[in-house]
Amino acid sequence: MSFQIAIDGPAGAGKSTIAKLVAKKKGYIYVDTGAMYRAMALFMIRKNIDGNDEEAVGKECAGADIGIAYRDGEQVVLLDGENVNSIIRTEEVGNMASLTAKNPRVRERLVILQKELASRNNVVMDGRDIGTVVLPDADVKIYLTASVEVRAKRRYDEIISKGEKADLQVIEEDIRLRDKQDMEREVSPLRKAEDAIEVDSSYLTIEEVTDRILSLCDGKGNT
Ligand code: DC
Repeated sequence: MSFQIAIDGPAGAGKSTIAKLVAKKKGYIYVDTGAMYRAMALFMIRKNIDGNDEEAVGKECAGADIGIAYRDGEQVVLLDGENVNSIIRTEEVGNMASLTAKNPRVRERLVILQKELASRNNVVMDGRDIGTVVLPDADVKIYLTASVEVRAKRRYDEIISKGEKADLQVIEEDIRLRDKQDMEREVSPLRKAEDAIEVDSSYLTIEEVTDRILSLCDGKGNT
């Protein structure tokens, strides 16, 4: 049996940073499921599909060939064989992903792929529904949160450090909207699994959160 670590939480809570570090320390693969939803969103944007048109999204998603590969330990998301890692991180793709991720047919397709990866490898998988739907029997389940203000400030600092312009208020609004969409959708909404451990990263360092998760793994006899 593979060892499975599930990390769920809202956008900007630090899931991917933490998940990558935990995966590296454990020698497990890291599966960023958000990147898969982003690749699907890119597919829809390229096809000029309206993200609010549920029927069109449901129909077209069957044509998207999304895959995951690992190069130098990094997850590479493939859309019809093309490495799309560098073009799925925009706000446009993120907003489209939040819309298309509501679609049951989109989720069905991607969840199959995610379950398959976790059955063949020891994984750290992050997303919104990993502990609740994708890996309900995961060995360690974390629900990673941080306040909206802290998450917005982190995103703001990240953009500014790249020398780009940002408006803290706009980012905060965007995060609130994304939270609402992810938490209030009908299919697989973002919520804490009953047996997940909640970790609020607002005032913890990356190392503190990582150590907390590693010690939870130790507690499961996985050292
Ligand atoms: O984590 P992220 O921002 O890259 O995710 C992009 C979108 O995909 C986000 O709005 C919610 C959705 N998502 C999801 O519905 N289920 C997942 N397991 C991961 C992401």
